[in-house]
Amino acid sequence: MAAAAPMPQAARIAVLVSGEGSNLQALIDAERAGKIGGRIVAVASNHAAARGLERARSAGIDALHVGALKGEPRRDYDARLAAALEPFDVDIVVLAGFMRIFDAELVERFAGRMLNIHPALLPRFPGLDTHRRVLEADERTHGATVHFVTPELDAGPSIIQWRTAVRADDTPETLGARVLRGEHLILPRATDWLAAGRLRLAGGGVMLDGALLADPVVIEDETC
Ligand code: GRF
Repeated sequence: MAAAAPMPQAARIAVLVSGEGSNLQALIDAERAGKIGGRIVAVASNHAAARGLERARSAGIDALHVGALKGEPRRDYDARLAAALEPFDVDIVVLAGFMRIFDAELVERFAGRMLNIHPALLPRFPGLDTHRRVLEADERTHGATVHFVTPELDAGPSIIQWRTAVRADDTPETLGARVLRGEHLILPRATDWLAAGRLRLAGGGVMLDGALLADPVVIEDETC
């Protein structure tokens, strides 16, 4: 009888955060619940005081502060960040509220292995301050998107979206709080798909379980 094939090693995940880290917490909780086919091995932040770093430490995960130096070119920062992550032998990088833009070189190094969560329904409303802009544009629907990171900001192919109806009495705060809860659902899910080898960046598209997605997977809240 042939020997059993060795278990493939669980994907090693780094999560990058800049602030509160509630998305990181959702990833940690999902991992602890056995819902992510991989292991968070490091958390890095450009801000020493990021609450996300504390959350990592509390969970027993290595927490790295890689601050930007004054006037430092983007690619030099990226190189220092990559060097800090090097010992962790990372397979997947998840940007969970990481408020810096990478140079193309780092993005290409992790092509097909880097995810980002964005608080809007891409390709609509890339960039910052999405909740306020959505209300000002009188949109009926809003949400969040997990996408593969490509060199162009917030423009990589979308994998999964969470959608909610915009309410007449919504403020940027109420809408943002609702969207954040949706983010906490879809980021662990997409991370699990990638870690489990179910998700691939194929050319400019996304393959899930061997099929090219015509549109991102959509989860709607009860209001849609
Ligand atoms: C999230 O809304 C994320 O989409 C955005 O920044 C926020 C980060 O929240 N880019 P947290 O740090 O995960 O709580």
